[in-house]
Amino acid sequence: MKSRLGPPGRNRLSDSISVRPLSLADLNELKVIQADCFGSHWSEAQLCAYLSNERALFAGLFQQGLLVGYALFTTVLDEAELQQIGVARSCQGQGLAKGLLLNCHRQLLNNGVVRVLLEVRASNSAAIELYHRTGYQQDGVRKGYYPLPDGREDAVLMSCDISTPATAD
Ligand SMILES: CC(C)(COP(=O)(O)OP(=O)(O)OC[C@H]1O[C@@H](n2cnc3c(N)ncnc32)[C@H](O)[C@@H]1OP(=O)(O)O)[C@@H](O)C(=O)NCCC(=O)NCCS
Repeated sequence: MKSRLGPPGRNRLSDSISVRPLSLADLNELKVIQADCFGSHWSEAQLCAYLSNERALFAGLFQQGLLVGYALFTTVLDEAELQQIGVARSCQGQGLAKGLLLNCHRQLLNNGVVRVLLEVRASNSAAIELYHRTGYQQDGVRKGYYPLPDGREDAVLMSCDISTPATAD
């Protein structure tokens, strides 16, 4: 298997929860989780491109061996962009996304990344709260960035210096 960004092995968050890089073998489970989180999944071609991109960190969160969440980062030099994070609806509200995100920050830092950037829909209060609780700050707003069925929605721009431990508990 090709070497990927981040350590290759499984990384335990607790007895039953672990994080490991996703591979093409996880494609079908990933499509199910992405559709559960977002209502639809990306094309197989798009998912396969990310899963085989050595400059991407595509981390899966497993509970008792089942994929229940994931986070996708792309990296350029010492910066990463959080492209997407999701936790299966039946598993939300248990601190899983927070644990996954902080675990990914450690992996990224070990690979020389010091700053993570993201943009999020202004209406996505769950995600914005998650980002605040994991050390992100708001940098600005991109007006009307996202399309809506009946108009446009702002993007909130956020970033996190992952070389400094998060202060929020
Ligand atoms: C956003 C998402 C990943 C959060 O996952 P989660 O596992 O439920 O989040 P956690 O349980 O780890 O919560 C992390 C923090 O965010 C807060 N939070 C989570 N959901 C929240 C909600 N609906 N409203 C307010 N705060 C919320 C929690 O209170 C927690 O703060 P705490 O540390 O003070 O307890 C999940 O809701 C999801 O998959 N949403 C759909 C996909 C999505 O919108 N992804 C983000 C954009 S790419």
